[in-house]
Amino acid sequence: MKTFTRKLMSVIIAASFCFGLASCSKTPAASTTAASSETTTAAESKASESETSAAESKAEIKTVNAGKLTMATNATFPPYEFHEGEKIVGIDAEIAKAVADKLGLELVIEDVEFDSIIAGVQSGKYDIGCAGMTVTEDRLKSVNFSTSYATGIQSIIVKEGSEIKTIDDLVKGKYKVGVQSGTTGDIYMSDAENGGVGEDRIDRFKNGNDAVIALLAGKIDAICIDNEPAKAYVEANKGLSILSTPFTEEKYAIAISKDNEALLTAINNALDELTKDGTIAKIIEKYIPTK
Ligand code: ARG
Repeated sequence: MKTFTRKLMSVIIAASFCFGLASCSKTPAASTTAASSETTTAAESKASESETSAAESKAEIKTVNAGKLTMATNATFPPYEFHEGEKIVGIDAEIAKAVADKLGLELVIEDVEFDSIIAGVQSGKYDIGCAGMTVTEDRLKSVNFSTSYATGIQSIIVKEGSEIKTIDDLVKGKYKVGVQSGTTGDIYMSDAENGGVGEDRIDRFKNGNDAVIALLAGKIDAICIDNEPAKAYVEANKGLSILSTPFTEEKYAIAISKDNEALLTAINNALDELTKDGTIAKIIEKYIPTK
């Protein structure tokens, strides 16, 4: 248990490290010339209070498809991203839309496997990965992360009446744990030396939904997944419950290619404006009501 917490702590450290990096890479007022050569709209001059506003930095942005912001996600992660009929909705979808609007780009959402998102951003297939994605030290080797817009903790879903009552029961027993492939839940749980159950007792699924089906069918004993999707899955399926073990916090942020510093700056500026004007809080409250 202790080691598990320690492992989670390294994610937090990685997260703070990332914010340091993100602010260092901010090009101070780099877009002044570019912006002044364009017609300044009312919105642009209003937004000019911040050092480099989202509107100003948009002049420099290059994206995979001109005029579009291509976002990769995995839409089996309610309330961050999920299908509502043909549409992909949720906190990430709405925040990304608000960011794209600020940058004058059209948001295009691609629903892909979670464990292909980082590689796709890195290779220039997608502009951003926005998928309730936790900032980790390892991922920071491949991509940049924006400032964080939300937090999560890992939870354990079991069947109601399960003899697994704590994370210690889970680790000490012979139980099988389902995870979504490539997620932080997968990383922590497969690492037996750092408090996980170890590789032999992990069952990897393409998405949280498939893991829930396997749990209900008795093929696995528990699922390790972020707390909000865990709550959503438990609400949507009878006979499941969440272990009340409190885990250390993870930071969610948008992944952006290391080759696109201008996009990182523009997205951070947009997120900053959307935080200050209350848009982000409003979107989160819509999907995770506190009252
Ligand atoms: N926060 C976890 C991670 O970054 C899980 C994210 C899964 N997201 C998804 N859209 N399926 O690894």
